[in-house]
Amino acid sequence: MASKDATETVRADAAGIARAAGILRVGGLVAVPTETVYGLAARADSAEAVARIYEAKGRPSFNPLIVHVSGRREAERLATLPAATDVVMEQCWPGPLTLVCPLRADANLAPAVTAGLPTVALRCPSHPVMQALLAACDFPLAAPSANRSGFVSPTSAAHVLATLDGRIDAVLDDGKKCEAGIESTILAIRDNGDWDELRPGPVDLEGLHRFLWPRPEPRIGQGDSGIEAPGQLSSHYAPGKPVRLNAEQAEAVEFLIGFGPVEGDVTLSKDGDLTEAASRLYACLHVAAHSNRSRIAVAPVPETGIGRAINDRLRRAAA
Ligand code: TXA
Ligand code: MG
Repeated sequence: MASKDATETVRADAAGIARAAGILRVGGLVAVPTETVYGLAARADSAEAVARIYEAKGRPSFNPLIVHVSGRREAERLATLPAATDVVMEQCWPGPLTLVCPLRADANLAPAVTAGLPTVALRCPSHPVMQALLAACDFPLAAPSANRSGFVSPTSAAHVLATLDGRIDAVLDDGKKCEAGIESTILAIRDNGDWDELRPGPVDLEGLHRFLWPRPEPRIGQGDSGIEAPGQLSSHYAPGKPVRLNAEQAEAVEFLIGFGPVEGDVTLSKDGDLTEAASRLYACLHVAAHSNRSRIAVAPVPETGIGRAINDRLRRAAA
């Protein structure tokens, strides 16, 4: 399958989903909408297909991929699930929550998916297109966000093509923006029932504390063995221009992304609504990146609820 040719845009109807499944089956790369961001999917049981994800994204080989599954039964074939995952799966699957669990020795996954880690990240997405695609595939799908490594994550088919056109076989376009707009929450669940939040996301700590006991303090990206989600290490989500945070107003050369009372050239949410802000975050960063201003400024966003995830991404964009 030649990925250097133009990328095909496929409408996300039944025929398009069948076509995407066919491309994936023979080892191709297809960008797919999810409720968080667009993912770049390939069959997770094929070393060649998975290698093409790393190549198309320019992703460092030490950064493992999330495996997307149709549900608990498929997850059980890939990982041993600590008891505490039961309640998390009941409450959060399908949805924007990824679980890092011990990898089964007999899991049929390309080794590059887990980048040599003894664990695997599993997610069961709720987006109807991704659900239909998983149902049409009799293999799990590895899918990182569908952007060149280090660039802003995509929440529309146009964002995907902005950095991956000609590098992937197809993009499934449902004509909509991804609803949550920010990547899934990642939790590591330990055998003793202990858990750590490796990446903040749409399922916030308040939501988790309704069914998991509170952690003494959130240790983002920090397991007992140090930094644990390798992708959380480096500067990420970079719009290609300097980013200044907590800006109350713009300087002359700056494109201002507003929030609440801080009016900007665009706004995350005029009403100060954090859910709306998350859903608009990457679209605003894409607009700012393509503006004629040489720098980007962003209004303060409160560190509550999904605001933690927004600020996490903004700090990386500014790093
Ligand atoms: O919402 C999402 O999670 C999106 C959609 C497409 O599902 N995917 C996504 O993938 O954000 P990506 O590759 O951009 O981020 C995956 C993160 C990386 O930080 C990676 O290091 C971490 O998950 N990760 C993957 N496997 C892991 C593992 N076994 N242990 C710890 N972290 C892992
Ligand atoms: Mg990413």
